[in-house]
Amino acid sequence: NQLVLERLNMNYVQSLAKSPNLHYVPSIYGYAANSTEPPASDLQDAIPTIDFSLLTSADPDLRSKMIQELDMACKDWGFFRVVNHGVPESLMNMVLEKSKEFFDLTEEEKKEFEEKGRDFLKVIVHPEFNCPSKPLVLLEYSKRTREVTKGLLSGISAGLGLDHSYVERALKLDSGFQIFAANLYPPCPQPELAIGLPPHSDHGLLTLLINNGVSGLQIKHKGKWFNVNNDIPNSFLVNTTDQLQIFSNGKYKSVEHHAIVNNAVTRLSVVVANGPSLDAVVEPAYKLVTEEKCPPKYIPMKYMEYLEMQQGNQIGGKTCLDKIR
Ligand code: SIN
Ligand code: FE2
Repeated sequence: NQLVLERLNMNYVQSLAKSPNLHYVPSIYGYAANSTEPPASDLQDAIPTIDFSLLTSADPDLRSKMIQELDMACKDWGFFRVVNHGVPESLMNMVLEKSKEFFDLTEEEKKEFEEKGRDFLKVIVHPEFNCPSKPLVLLEYSKRTREVTKGLLSGISAGLGLDHSYVERALKLDSGFQIFAANLYPPCPQPELAIGLPPHSDHGLLTLLINNGVSGLQIKHKGKWFNVNNDIPNSFLVNTTDQLQIFSNGKYKSVEHHAIVNNAVTRLSVVVANGPSLDAVVEPAYKLVTEEKCPPKYIPMKYMEYLEMQQGNQIGGKTCLDKIR
């Protein structure tokens, strides 16, 4: 687990935001100013909602209807909301609260994290729980979000025409690699010139996101950028990722997204990235490929190797996926 997990240096962004003389965006954060893309607009159609209680229902009709909806959501959007997921609202709120407290620590107190080579909040939580001071809230959140991920991947397996436990077995979810990350976006004096988090697609299988009620996420849908609003409280916003694009042989796409900032309120987002086991070989599922009609679009690769390759990739976006075609 020597992967260096890079992200903006949050200490720096935070102290910058507190600076009394900050009236402009330092040019290193001036990403948006260089963008030639048209501004994002609001979505006409709502992001699909998946009712987790129906997906895992004992009633086969209800279950198969939800499996179909999940398949459509992955195919048409790559983003969906999950409701009735069973993770207590109090736990979700506590995780947001504790994450916020982390950013409020002094530089001295954050040292324990810095010694691990990171001065932002991004920790591996499974198969090893690497968070210093081992907060129980985070341990519980990691466990509960893994259960939701497993249920969703079982539905995704079935939706792809595979045995419901196929993804779990093939990608060794019992030792699945899970990362917890918290992103703090303080108010910015010139939000139109800055970007909170540059465009990227996620690695892993499914990313589960929650936030403090402040909008800022934008997704690329049918070639255009759209705002994602927080219209369903207590839900998870879930997206499909690079490894699911590979596994589904391109049927599901790993959707690009980024986060913008605003000049009024602080935004906090908390993500758990749920991936295969680091030593699992990820490749298009055998049932989805045929030599003549549907040849495999990606070469088999260990998840660990993919992560290492992505590490060395400074460009971001989805360039890694293109490399293994
Ligand atoms: C992420 O993509 O990791 C976070 C996006 C967000 O802050 O909404
Ligand atoms: Fe992301």
